[in-house]
Amino acid sequence: MERTLIVGVDFGTSSTKVIWQDLSDNHFEAFRWNPSEAGLAAMLLPSTIVVRNDGIHFGLSDVGAREGDIRLSSIKLCMLCRDNHAICRCGSSVARRGVVCLPGMEAAYPASAFASLFLAHVFREVETRLATQFPDDSLFLIWNVGCPMDYLDEMNRKHEWEAMAGVAMELRHEVSNPAAVSLLAEAAVRLNNFVVAAPKERNYFVQPEGLAAVKAFLESPHALPKTYAIVDVGAGTTEVSFFFNGRIMKEPGQPLRPSYLADSTQAVGGGRIDLDLADVWNCAPEDARRRKETCGSKIPVVPSVGMICVQYERTCGEILKSQKLTAANDKRFDLFVIGGGGRLRPLQDALCNRSLPGGFVREGRQQLQAPKMLKNRLAIQDCYDFLANACGLASSISWEYYPPREVPAMTYQPPARPARDLDEYYPK
Ligand SMILES: Nc1ncnc2c1ncn2[C@@H]1O[C@H](COP(=O)(O)OP(=O)(O)OP(=O)(O)O)[C@@H](O)[C@H]1O
Ligand SMILES: [Mg+2]
Repeated sequence: MERTLIVGVDFGTSSTKVIWQDLSDNHFEAFRWNPSEAGLAAMLLPSTIVVRNDGIHFGLSDVGAREGDIRLSSIKLCMLCRDNHAICRCGSSVARRGVVCLPGMEAAYPASAFASLFLAHVFREVETRLATQFPDDSLFLIWNVGCPMDYLDEMNRKHEWEAMAGVAMELRHEVSNPAAVSLLAEAAVRLNNFVVAAPKERNYFVQPEGLAAVKAFLESPHALPKTYAIVDVGAGTTEVSFFFNGRIMKEPGQPLRPSYLADSTQAVGGGRIDLDLADVWNCAPEDARRRKETCGSKIPVVPSVGMICVQYERTCGEILKSQKLTAANDKRFDLFVIGGGGRLRPLQDALCNRSLPGGFVREGRQQLQAPKMLKNRLAIQDCYDFLANACGLASSISWEYYPPREVPAMTYQPPARPARDLDEYYPK
């Protein structure tokens, strides 16, 4: 049997999550990296790269750290850092401005070469496991990788991410774990010369993470017609997406269709909150992170929380500027906060209480629901805030990337008066 699977790869700053969808019956399944672990831990692959002797190790948690290890713990941020040096907070002695210089090696490699090898490891692991799961089928895999970018590819980030995914696809059979350090040079050369094929000629795609979150919403059982905001706070970035899920009256069946209203990506997330908390508590960022994750609500409001709230307000302001919504009722929206960083209670409270410009009013705050067809849905629902993006990336919804500039501004139309019955004018 031929079987097509859409594999959503949420390449996160702190961990990578994978969910795939089987198009033969439309069920979703979360990929378990470590089947012996229980719960969420099994589904998170640390997005870490450790160079130890002559080997590159992928996905090692800090528990297994050894002396002499060179650890790149946020390679995704290193990639973003190339275009925007100001976001760098990692304090790494080997990575700077998107370039990594390994001690004892003359050559310097772009962070994207490391990221390509990491992604090649992910592709290989997932592909191997799926081949074992469906031994009698001929598998066709479509890969969707998340990318932290706004609706417009202003900084050429999409192309960089596509090249990274393309090189990973080419190298996936050569990358073992650990992989040879010599593969870095190979990845760097391929990245330099890589030509991204036309979409019809490849099976890997890059999608904005904000869009993935919206698709996760559309896969959920509660996709009602309304305006929504999704704030996804990860470890390295925050994505804010506003969209209107409305009926298309002109089309038969008046289907529900979402329109993007505004979105934004900013390199502030849980990692930055850890640094702020470490300042307040006077401890190491790793200790601040542990304390933050277990402390519940007894956490001070730090500047990075304020920055996320400002981003949320500013993104809402974009809708006003471009007049995407005008009716007061359409400005009443529901809010979803997802991503591990979004678990922080003071951040949730600050977002919920933030007053927004132009008559925008948050009506409700909802938890994003996993699709009905997700295997072990009830067990996963509690940690679905971590997995929603991967699920959105595995979605087959054909609503394609629909940027705000293509959404026409709305003009105010007074409600139509009901037409008078002709009999009233011309009684028989
Ligand atoms: N209970 C908790 N309270 C507060 N923060 C938490 C909690 N659990 C996890 N986090 C934070 O969530 C972040 C990881 O979330 P997530 O997995 O969504 O990020 P990511 O996808 O790896 O990163 P990004 O999307 O930015 O690339 C970390 O900063 C972690 O400290
Ligand atoms: Mg994320």
